[in-house]
Amino acid sequence: ADQPLVLGIETSCDETGVGIVRGETLLVDAIASSVDEHARFGGVVPEVASRAHLEAMVPTIERACTTAGIGLRDLDAVAVTSGPGLAGALMVGVASAKALALALGVPLYGVNHLASHVAVDIVEHGPLPEPTLALLVSGGHSSLLLVPDVTHDVRSLGSTIDDAAGEAFDKVARVLGLPFPGGPHIDRAAGEGQVVIDFPRGLTTGRDLERHRFDFSFSGLKTAVARWVQAREASGQPVPVADVAASFQEAVTDVLTRKAVLACREHGVEHLQVGGGVAANSRLRAMARERCEAAGIELRVPRPGLCTDNGAMVAALGAQLVLKGRSPSDLSLPADSSMPV
Ligand code: KG4
Ligand code: ZN
Repeated sequence: ADQPLVLGIETSCDETGVGIVRGETLLVDAIASSVDEHARFGGVVPEVASRAHLEAMVPTIERACTTAGIGLRDLDAVAVTSGPGLAGALMVGVASAKALALALGVPLYGVNHLASHVAVDIVEHGPLPEPTLALLVSGGHSSLLLVPDVTHDVRSLGSTIDDAAGEAFDKVARVLGLPFPGGPHIDRAAGEGQVVIDFPRGLTTGRDLERHRFDFSFSGLKTAVARWVQAREASGQPVPVADVAASFQEAVTDVLTRKAVLACREHGVEHLQVGGGVAANSRLRAMARERCEAAGIELRVPRPGLCTDNGAMVAALGAQLVLKGRSPSDLSLPADSSMPV
């Protein structure tokens, strides 16, 4: 086959991801996570993440190749997340990818983490319609992206002005006494609860909406939840964890889907892709489905394992860069922790 065989490395946060893609087909998505090592600190500790990447890198590459039934010599290119993310964590991935590309004599492609969250949908649902609108919601990002071409034209329409959506999930989980990372725990708890508390929807009305049409704000929501819980505790009543989780989750999901659909309408885009760790949220998936259906928008959401950080997304974007004939990076490729989209 003349489809490029590309290995992708992702180390922007706490997951060491190694994916292998042939053209637009995913062969393997190998992952090693240091999330358990961070749990006792209640958040990702950069130093711990970097060390864990270093330890996991070679074994994860070997496991990926074995599972895919390929040898390193079969690779046509190596792709790596070069930003944004934790500086030390990115450096481990970038240095590893350079060494691999140099040793194999194949091109190296540095890719943007946000763009690769969008590109992963290609190995799940086929070629991305152009343009696509992407809602990217993770622990580090909450952005609405207009994507005319994922290999070289990704435009930010708006993003969070304070906390990322995933960060809000994690902080609210902590307030409710649920473990880190809190998103999946809130999701589960919410399934047992009712939406009975009307928490604030940031930047959705009046002047706020005018000024921040496609931006998000979740810190006011997080504070409102914390105040509500504190008031409950102070009154000596038990905190209805499931109801608080459901009500909080409803507020976040409402804002995200409302703005995503609005952005599609205003930019005349008929395809919405949702990615990032928070896209694993069951309520977000359901509400996005309903609202897209009502608005005549095609919704594309990869399976949860491809929404959270992984190597497949890097390989998927790398393969697109090869297929579209984009220039590779040179071996001086820097890790850029604050790389814009
Ligand atoms: O994309 P990701 O794996 O890493 C970052 O780039 O941040 O996203 C991790 C975030 C965490 O904040 C986690 O709590 C959240 O995604 N998350 C969820 C769910 N699963 C993961 N949030 C809500 N509901 C979920 N089911
Ligand atoms: Zn991510």
